Amino acid sequence: MKDYDEIVKQIAGCTLCALSERRNRTVPGDGSVNSEIMFIGEAPGYNEDQQGLPFVGAAGNVLTELLAGIGLRRADVYITNMVKCRPPNNRDPMSGEIEACSTYLDAQIALIDPKVIVTLGRYSFAKFFPGRTISRERGKPRMWRGRMVYPMYHPAATLHNPRLRPALEDDFRNLPQLVAEVIALPDDTASEDETPPEQQMSLF
Ligand code: URA
Repeated sequence: MKDYDEIVKQIAGCTLCALSERRNRTVPGDGSVNSEIMFIGEAPGYNEDQQGLPFVGAAGNVLTELLAGIGLRRADVYITNMVKCRPPNNRDPMSGEIEACSTYLDAQIALIDPKVIVTLGRYSFAKFFPGRTISRERGKPRMWRGRMVYPMYHPAATLHNPRLRPALEDDFRNLPQLVAEVIALPDDTASEDETPPEQQMSLF
């Protein structure tokens, strides 16, 4: 896709924030640009920075495993991050970095046009629904500008705290049904900004 290649090229040459100074490689995203499902994590880590691919380290193994559990391969979905360059020592991305990188993420969302955006962890969830708590909201799909946003814990969180793993597995298990439901929604329903709780999808 020509426009997608253009976004990747712009990311590769980006110097909008200081993360560009220490990166080895930019990590634009990976998977199918035709997918209905986009996963958004936080930021590249060491392995991602080495390979130029998102979620290829330990957290990536968890993600790949959970996808396989619902019959999906990485190539069936699109995977990206809030920021496309590795923060030093894997620290959390800062708001200025997220802001600088949002042009690229917004362009990816517009171009790939996923029906369902799965947010992994609190940073990507906050992009769509700031001020809400991930532990309270995970697993609850909400409509946002015509798309479903489905918040989940970050796979890395389950490595630090294995007790979170069943919740993440549950949320993955519900994903295929949610995708089917959102594809079946009439266009006017899908165009509401934030669906009020009483009108949210029936699964939860
Ligand atoms: N790897 C990524 O690409 N993103 C994360 O958020 C964590 C690990």
